[in-house]
Amino acid sequence: METERKKVIFSAIQPSGTITLGNYLGALKNWVALQDEYDCIFSLADLHTITVRQDPATFRKNTTEAYALLLACGIDPKKSIFFIQSHVPAHAQLAWVLNCYTQFGELSRMTQFKDKAAKHADNINAGLFTYPSLMAADILLYQADLVPVGADQKQHLELTRNIADRFNAAYSPTFNLPDGYIPKHGARIMSLQDPSSKMSKSDSNVNGFVALLDPPEVVMRKFKRAVTDSEACVRYAEGKDGVNNLMGIYSCVTGKTMEEIEHEFEGRGYGDFKTAVGEAVVEHLRPIQEKYAQYIADKAYLEECYREGAQRAERIANRTLAKVMKKIGFLPA
Ligand code: TYM
Repeated sequence: METERKKVIFSAIQPSGTITLGNYLGALKNWVALQDEYDCIFSLADLHTITVRQDPATFRKNTTEAYALLLACGIDPKKSIFFIQSHVPAHAQLAWVLNCYTQFGELSRMTQFKDKAAKHADNINAGLFTYPSLMAADILLYQADLVPVGADQKQHLELTRNIADRFNAAYSPTFNLPDGYIPKHGARIMSLQDPSSKMSKSDSNVNGFVALLDPPEVVMRKFKRAVTDSEACVRYAEGKDGVNNLMGIYSCVTGKTMEEIEHEFEGRGYGDFKTAVGEAVVEHLRPIQEKYAQYIADKAYLEECYREGAQRAERIANRTLAKVMKKIGFLPA
């Protein structure tokens, strides 16, 4: 009897320094949970990272640390393929090909491009512009069914589907059309200082984001300073962005529903609530931080994992790339 093909999951994160609680709750926590049920492939998207200028030594350090941190979060290289994007050349190769099937107008409409171009006005390079075709290549190389990401990546996923659909229509079915896997809670964790903008590691105010490696006292301080409102009532409602965000974070790390949280804090002030959220996050991060210290001290193990991950990824990626090249009409080498 033919065994049914397990669904394939692909996702990636940039190793561009700090990894935040937003990255974790929006994406990484779900990656870990999906590993038992699906064929998972995860990557550090270091080719994407150079769209913003990097200092070489810091870039190397950030990539190693991000790899160790993801292992500490629970990415298991025995269950999943976990590799570094630049170690598999097929990503850059397919990205070039897909650039030729992506319209200037489509790329111009990407809100992330517009935001980043505004933020880095001195370096609006072509890579920043064509970044979504590289992201499409990442996903399509593995014929992914599902892509677990935060809400900010939704537009890039839609473009990926459009590119895949266009290629399939021009030749013959080649790429699987992937769906996003965006969590109900945690898909858009907001800044603790400005709850109308998303939590981001590039926030100039460090109190706006919690880093996964922030020490407990720093996490507590950031939550105690979090912006709320003047109502002094813990309830989930329109116009209460700061409180809604804290409730969302608390719900993600404790598994409690919004109703349970409202009940728990009935008649209690924001001081108690913020302390409880801070403590719950500290407890959630504690085992991750402990495991991180072990992984980062063992560079030989990290190297062994990412080399093996790249070999496994490459076998799948090269198969898709070969099909694509043949369909387009490139002469075989
Ligand atoms: P990156 O590195 O910016 O973010 C990694 C993941 O974290 C999610 N995320 C958030 N989720 C909730 N709240 C937030 N405040 C928050 N901030 C970030 C992101 O949605 C993302 O899922 N282009 C991607 C990396 C990438 C990729 C891919 C993803 C490259 N190739 C292929 C999926 C598939 C990026 O820069 O994510």
